[in-house]
Amino acid sequence: MILVTGGAGYIGSHTVVELLNENYDVVILDNFVNSSPSVIDKIELITNKKIKFYEGNVLDRKVLNEIFNDNEVSDVIHFAGLKSVSESLIKPYDYYNNNVTGTLTLVNEMVLNNVNNLIFSSSATVYGKPQEIPLTESCHIGETTNPYGTSKFVAEKMLTDISSANLKFNVTLLRYFNPVGAHPSGMIGESPKGIPNNLVPYLTKVARGQLECLSVFGSDYPTKDGTGIRDFIHVMDLAMGHVAALRNRKPERNLNIYNLGTGKGYTVLELINAFERITGVKVNYRLSDRRDGDIAECWSDPSLARNELGWEASRSLDDMLRDVWNWENTKSNY
Ligand code: WQD
Repeated sequence: MILVTGGAGYIGSHTVVELLNENYDVVILDNFVNSSPSVIDKIELITNKKIKFYEGNVLDRKVLNEIFNDNEVSDVIHFAGLKSVSESLIKPYDYYNNNVTGTLTLVNEMVLNNVNNLIFSSSATVYGKPQEIPLTESCHIGETTNPYGTSKFVAEKMLTDISSANLKFNVTLLRYFNPVGAHPSGMIGESPKGIPNNLVPYLTKVARGQLECLSVFGSDYPTKDGTGIRDFIHVMDLAMGHVAALRNRKPERNLNIYNLGTGKGYTVLELINAFERITGVKVNYRLSDRRDGDIAECWSDPSLARNELGWEASRSLDDMLRDVWNWENTKSNY
């Protein structure tokens, strides 16, 4: 059985759908701080399978032990954590407590219960300001510029040290680039609480008339059109990356690190133009100053995951934007 912490969240819920489709047994732990119990119902509707879930936080050793005592867990996929860059600057304690102490608490209870396989939700943010592009897994990490990124970097370092001291404990670190899109059914997708920080959720709210105008942060970067470049990856491809990591663990190494990206970079203006072309909806935007902490370009070399996991992203930017717009127009029906 696979324990998915944060399994009702954006990437977690899409990964649970794919795990169930691949006939894995899944149990979810989620405290619904950035999700809702209704997501569990939608996963069951999509997959036509029942899911066991526990409401709680990975900081709570009691609920972790209840899960491990009640279920034959073989692997844990750990998504649960806080993930807003801007919020982390305001609430650093919450980010270190949830993302670092929470991960440490989970690992401790796993080892005590002889559960020795962990897949950790990391992020391209750990690369900080890239010294070379495209980014490979051996690129320098650690020059993070916000508590969210630093919490992911610290968690990676902890897990690296734990795996080198305990060869029985297997760690896979998956570094996500920019997750975008939604399940094609339109029943699950990204629904951040409050005003979105990320580009696509903000853009779709502007497209729906819920927000006035999209600020394009920076038009003077050394890129083809002056705006930032990112490696946008469909959340369904990201979900399949987790299934591939589960299925193709390398027994000869108990620490494996993979970039989950497409290897393609698009500028912010290219994404806006693609959205307008696909949806026929004009996006009201203005060119604004750069956002503090942003970098000009960030995209991946995903060849290691292709060679070792037999995984590569297959969905295009058009697929991502078509699916996210379908989600925006469908979610109110459920
Ligand atoms: C993308 C591009 C902005 C908003 C962060 C985290 C990363 C991951 C994804 C969790 C940049 C521009 C954005 C807006 C804009 N999260 N932009 N107007 O900063 O690349 O990555 O979210 O894992 O870890 O670091 O994503 O979507 O915020 O920005 O112009 O209103 O869009 O400048 O070039 P980012 P983003």
